[in-house]
Order: sequence, then structure tokens, then C-alpha cells
Amino acid sequence: MTSTNTAFAEEVLASLATRPRSLSSKWFYDARGDKLFQDIMAMPEYYLTDCEREIYQKCGPELLKAIGDRPFDLIELGAGDGSKTQHLIDRFISYGAKFTYRPIDISANAIELLGNLVAMQWPNMPYAPLNDDYFAALDRLGKSDNGMGRLVLFPGANVGNFTQEQAADFLRHLHKFLRPGDLLLTGFDLKKNPDTILAAYNDEAGHTADFNLNLLRRINNDLGGDFNLLQWRHWESYNPLTGATRSFLVSRTDQEVTIRRLNQTFQFDAWEAISVEISQKYSKREIEALAEVSGFTHVRHFLDKREWFSDSLWRVE
Ligand code: AVJ
Repeated sequence: MTSTNTAFAEEVLASLATRPRSLSSKWFYDARGDKLFQDIMAMPEYYLTDCEREIYQKCGPELLKAIGDRPFDLIELGAGDGSKTQHLIDRFISYGAKFTYRPIDISANAIELLGNLVAMQWPNMPYAPLNDDYFAALDRLGKSDNGMGRLVLFPGANVGNFTQEQAADFLRHLHKFLRPGDLLLTGFDLKKNPDTILAAYNDEAGHTADFNLNLLRRINNDLGGDFNLLQWRHWESYNPLTGATRSFLVSRTDQEVTIRRLNQTFQFDAWEAISVEISQKYSKREIEALAEVSGFTHVRHFLDKREWFSDSLWRVE
């Protein structure tokens, strides 16, 4: 087994062994999951990508001004296929900024796709990708520290896959890794009409359902599981009070699932759910409070025209 598969196996075992059942959304992204997420980004209901592309097309000059006239590391947490970040990188390059691009992604396939894009678009840009999860990647970056100033991008509302508490813990950890003058730009999906939010995660065509069910397929492929995908359904909820959008896979029937590489059989009751994803929505007020509890100084929100999404800029003092 690869080291990713070992980590995957350990986490699946731990999270299916306890009730209520859960699986972490960080495992959505194998090659097929990356493709399904691209389908989500392309569908009309999933407004997040368009919002952030719009913001990335206009915030470049101000980011460069904030970082100052010096070479820097551009670290990106959960870079994916780079389809949005390319707009920002294009602008950075056209303004003559000197930086090393250090994308981090848990998907080996995404890092490979990004490598192709970089080779085609910016063959001369200093480039150092990391295929790892956020914590392990920050650890590795810390160990090979070159003293360079940093602009960290945390795009796409990836931070929303943490609960607010987990987000504060992670951001505190990130703050410790950074130095005074370093900047963090985080994409937050804002609270808005609940119908708009729910539709983005519960589309008519079923792209989100396919994406979520792919997690069971991945367990079948990588860990020798025998999940019957027809016996599971995707179910979505949005709670406007807490701002939590949550995805579940619900068992349609009493069933037994064996996962060979875990040497385990799991019982699922009819209508028992597995929690698979949180996509936390924020108010501007909550974003500013999160900056404060995690040790950052809030600088400003960059918003799209509809004010549905914010890329919020924070600084380390
Ligand atoms: C990639 C984490 C930003 O939570 O909106 C999209 C993933 N899940 N549709 C999100 C996702 C279902 C997405 N992020």
C-alpha cells in the first residue's frame, strides 16, 4: 500500500468503528473525485468558483502592494487544478512579481494536472509542489525554511471543510508557522439565501451525489470494500443558524459491508447515516472574529459583485 492508502485505511477504520459514523471529506479527491469536483465547479448552481474567479481577477495589485517589493513564497493550501489561481498568477507575473509557487494538495492527481498547467503556462516560474495534507505539508515547509516572506492562499472555501472550532485550531497552527509581515488570503463562502446554498450542494443533475458516493467507490477500489452504491443515497442539509452545510450518505437498507484490507465487516442499519462533509458558511463578522481568535490581524474582505463570497486578507503582526 502507498503511504496515502495506509493513512486512508487507518482513518476509515477509526471513523467507521464509532457511531455516529463519519468519513472525512479530505478523501474525496482521487482522480475520479477530482474529475467529479470539476463537474461541480462547472455546474450553474455551484456559484463559489465564479465568485472567487471574479475576486482573483481584481485583487492582484493590492496583494502585491501588501506584500511589498520583495521576493516571496506563494503557498497555496488545497490548490486543486489551479483553474482559479491561474488568474492571480498571470497578474503577479505581468506585474513582474518575484515568487516561488508552492501549491499543496492531498490529491496526487491534482498535483500532476497542476504540473502540466505550470509547464505549459509558466515554464520559467520557480515551482515546488507538495502532495500532502495541510499539516504534513506545513511541517515539511517549516523544516526547509528559507526565510522568505510568504503569501498564503487558502482558496475555494476549503476552510469550510473544517468546523469553526477546527478552523480556529488549524489557523492558530498556521499562524505559528508564519512570521510578521506574512499574509493569508482565505476564501470564505458567505451566509446568503438558504435556497441558493442548498442548491449548490444538492443539484438537480446529481453531480454532488456522484461526488459524495465516489468516497464509497474509493473505499471499494483502494481498500477492497464491497459497498453497493445503489444501496446508498446522498442527503444534504443547510442550517442557517449555525451556517453549516452538511452532506450525508444514508443507508437505504440494513446491510453489511466488508472491507478486505481492514479485515473488518461493518453493520449499517436501514437509514443510518454517515456524515461525509461540512461546508461551513460565514458572516463577515464571524470571519473577523476568527482572525482575532487565531492570532491574525484582519486587513480587508475582497468581495464579488453579488457579495456571496469573500477572500479575506489577514496579516501577521
Ligand atoms: C472544495 C471544499 C470548497 O465544500 O464547497 C463541493 C467541496 N463538496 N460540493 C465545498 C464540495 C460538495 C467544496 N470545497
